[in-house]
Amino acid sequence: MEQIQITNILYLFSAIAFIMGIKRLSHPKTARSGNLLSSIGMLIAIVATLTYPGREFDFSLIIGGVLVGAVIGIIFATRVQMTEMPQMVAIFNGLGGAASAFVASSEFLSKPESPFIIVCLSVFIGALTFTGSFVAFGKLQGFISGKAVTFKGQQLINAVIAFLAVVMILAPGLIFDSSIYIGYLNAFFVVVVLALILGIGLTIPIGGADMPVVISLLNSYSGIAAAATGFLISNNALIISGSLVGASGLILTNIMCKGMNRSLANVIFGAVGAESSVGSSDGKEMSIKSYSTTEAAMILDAAEKIIIVPGYGLAVAQAQHVAREVAETLEAMGKKVLYAIHPVAGRMPGHMNVLLAEANVSYDVLKDLDEVNPEFEDCDVALILGANDVVNPAARHDQASPIYGMPILNVDKSRTVIINKRSMNPGFAGVQNELFGYDNSIMVFGDAKDMLNDLLKEVKEL
Ligand code: TAP
Repeated sequence: MEQIQITNILYLFSAIAFIMGIKRLSHPKTARSGNLLSSIGMLIAIVATLTYPGREFDFSLIIGGVLVGAVIGIIFATRVQMTEMPQMVAIFNGLGGAASAFVASSEFLSKPESPFIIVCLSVFIGALTFTGSFVAFGKLQGFISGKAVTFKGQQLINAVIAFLAVVMILAPGLIFDSSIYIGYLNAFFVVVVLALILGIGLTIPIGGADMPVVISLLNSYSGIAAAATGFLISNNALIISGSLVGASGLILTNIMCKGMNRSLANVIFGAVGAESSVGSSDGKEMSIKSYSTTEAAMILDAAEKIIIVPGYGLAVAQAQHVAREVAETLEAMGKKVLYAIHPVAGRMPGHMNVLLAEANVSYDVLKDLDEVNPEFEDCDVALILGANDVVNPAARHDQASPIYGMPILNVDKSRTVIINKRSMNPGFAGVQNELFGYDNSIMVFGDAKDMLNDLLKEVKEL
């Protein structure tokens, strides 16, 4: 068998590993093995590429790059907090886009005969992903304002930049002398600059709560840039892996938009999260009932069916372990305990599943939105731990609310709703939650971990 055939068979194996890996990522039980399988696929692809017949590599540079990258990757992967995962993904996407743009640029600069449109496509999407992802990272990390930054004519400016880039890619001869290489080179640099500006221009008008959706979209772009680069350098593994990233990023973006009942156009152009959306959903004062953990424990004592609703605050407090302990204690007292999982609770898809899996909560008691909503009808206590937007009933009826139409967990149908959070601050969407003022709602203020530790003591003493 010829060496090239062996390389292509290895690429085929790596593609199969990627596809099976992605499939396994779709369930918390199989996600770890899916991750491992995909990593093995990537290792096979790297080995196949480095042994590609007829190619010579500077291995000292490659090994140096791998070592530096591996050290940075290990440090980030072990240190990053679960709640900071979207920021890390944003950086990865940005660097992935930049890598594709650099490979395509080096190909064009060393081989002027390279197909100009494909070079530009890869560089354009890669450079746009780079700046867009770093703006998204800056917003989520608080380096720049997390609110939607908007100004008059913003979308027009973006449209003009995009139009100029398309002209430059498809018809560089309209502006530069396309009979000589230097003409193409000038057009190429203009495309790079336009893409870098457009990445910033498209991301700054997007508000904080929509950032994870944009990160997923940018993830998809980085895949498309990689696939374009794969075509340019005739590398099958890059074409396949880039297409998989591009497609899965788009599917994830779609799932998140559905979870928030928003169209992608509304996320990108709607500027939700700008200053104006902050405030009470109906402008009325609410009457709040604040209870102690002792009183909350007594209510739980009288309950038979309890549904725990985890949200972003539980993740911030890292209270998943003590939440499980409270649940187990209540179960030992003969009560039925379920967990209600909203698809966009937290800050990334599957956030609550990962969090609770970390605390060894059994998958059998995790119920998704459709499954759990009917359960609230005969539920004695809905115990809300750091969730806010995903339980806001305004989403069902208040057309003026930015979260109107988002499917929510119908916790208000329970006999009693116990809400734990630290203050009356709004959730990510920036709107006050009318649930807190409902007759059957009581608030137990405090950090989720501290509150649950107190509650655990109280419940054990019952
Ligand atoms: P949020 O609506 O963001 O509310 C979280 C609540 O947790 C806040 O009101 C906060 O109130 C409380 N909190 C923070 N730290 C806490 C702590 N240490 N202890 C106790 N409570 C704490 O969360 P959610 O209900 O999970 O909804 C998620 C939001 O993110 C939705 O708007 C969703 O659309 C958006 N989003 C999610 C995703 C994905 S994929 N998950 C993607 C895009 C957008 P205090 O400050 O008063 O404590």
